[in-house]
Amino acid sequence: MSAKSWQIVMDKNALLVSKLFIVGILITTLMTSGLSATEILQTEEPVRVRADLCNESALLREMETCAGQFKGDMALIDPQNWCNITHFIREYNYFSACTEIKAVHTGCYWPNPLVESYIIHVHRHFFSNCTMEQVVLVDPPDETLTLLISVPVLLTLVMITLVVWRSKRNEA
Ligand SMILES: *[C@@H]1O[C@H](CO)[C@@H](O)[C@H](O)[C@H]1NC(C)=O
Ligand SMILES: *[C@@H]1O[C@H](CO)[C@@H](O)[C@H](O)[C@H]1NC(C)=O
Ligand SMILES: *[C@@H]1O[C@H](CO)[C@@H](O)[C@H](O)[C@H]1NC(C)=O
Repeated sequence: MSAKSWQIVMDKNALLVSKLFIVGILITTLMTSGLSATEILQTEEPVRVRADLCNESALLREMETCAGQFKGDMALIDPQNWCNITHFIREYNYFSACTEIKAVHTGCYWPNPLVESYIIHVHRHFFSNCTMEQVVLVDPPDETLTLLISVPVLLTLVMITLVVWRSKRNEA
């Protein structure tokens, strides 16, 4: 893949990446405050991506490649700066673009539950000690951006709440 097409993919994804990032931080925060990943990820339907085309074993391997690359990139950054988004946004962009390109390449949708669980895994590894303020309030977004970001974040929170509530009810 040429540098130019990477650039295009990255520009197109800039907003989505920041949304995913914030959603991921929220999910990470929620999970580290008591919920386990399996509780959130397995109460939904079993991971089912586009079943006819998506090669899940290939996708899993590709996600491991993306995560491995990201870990390598992050290792070059002083851990003191791991919560400062300006220090790793480029690496994070590459990681995000990697997951998308590989997912599409293996015939899967992006994002999809398997990719999401991988992104969450990566977030837990690197950002579990970061607070929302440290990460998000570095560069206060304008009103439109706030709206664009907060709507999916709120939807995600509502979804998680519903899933957790439903699993609690099923247990009862
Ligand atoms: C899925 O990918 C793996 C590894 O690339 C390959 O061995 C396997 O045959 C593929 N499965 C299908 C159903 O295409
Ligand atoms: C993040 O890093 C940039 C560049 O080094 C620096 O200017 C900024 O003050 C840092 N932000 C925080 C919250 O540490
Ligand atoms: C988070 O903090 C714990 C306890 O201080 C530490 O062991 C761990 O390495 C830290 N994780 C990261 C990703 O900085």
